[in-house]
Amino acid sequence: MVRFKIASEDELRVLSRNLLRLMQDKSSQVYRDNVVKFGIPDDYVQKAFSEGSFLNAVRERESIIYLATENDDIRGFAQTYPQSDTTAELDRIIILPDYIRKGVGTALLNAALEDQKTRGFRKIIVNAGSGESHARRFYEKNGFKQLSETEVDAPWGGKISLVTYERDL
Ligand SMILES: CC(C)(COP(=O)(O)OP(=O)(O)OC[C@H]1O[C@@H](n2cnc3c(N)ncnc32)[C@H](O)[C@@H]1OP(=O)(O)O)[C@@H](O)C(=O)NCCC(=O)NCCS
Repeated sequence: MVRFKIASEDELRVLSRNLLRLMQDKSSQVYRDNVVKFGIPDDYVQKAFSEGSFLNAVRERESIIYLATENDDIRGFAQTYPQSDTTAELDRIIILPDYIRKGVGTALLNAALEDQKTRGFRKIIVNAGSGESHARRFYEKNGFKQLSETEVDAPWGGKISLVTYERDL
């Protein structure tokens, strides 16, 4: 049975290790879909999934990282940041490749949003790459409404087109 919880610091270390291990297989679908497709440099990927980045987000930036676990093994995570007193951002949600398309993402999203609501947030926003059709379908199926589409500077350089969605809590 899949369970949902807020990650402890020890669990964030395990999560980071699992994600970095996953990203070592550069021929994998997950690497091609999420890294190669966007031209993201390796050192950016390493940093985005590093233990330090997860711990810093939680300790210094009020980020909350929700885990989906089964028999204590991590199946996926969702990460939020506050944007204002009433709006939070879903920064990323990732289900490990062996467990996608089984409803875990939807259940994790709902658990995270329920918790965000109890913290006083009334709205959640999320950005997806314009060409990320699977992520966009996931958000749309889960009640997010498109707000805007903009071209922004990618943190790793160059430009990317982003669609911003919002959902009331
Ligand atoms: C996007 C993601 C979080 C969805 O989680 P999931 O557990 O696979 O999704 P669910 O099983 O709950 O799917 C719910 C709905 O989302 C949509 N969806 C999910 N994955 C999809 C895909 N690959 N292609 C098209 N639609 C998809 C479908 O409408 C699906 O409903 P259905 O299966 O009844 O058709 C997961 O696929 C993932 O981690 N992908 C890689 C990382 C990523 O792109 N994250 C999002 C940006 S940070």
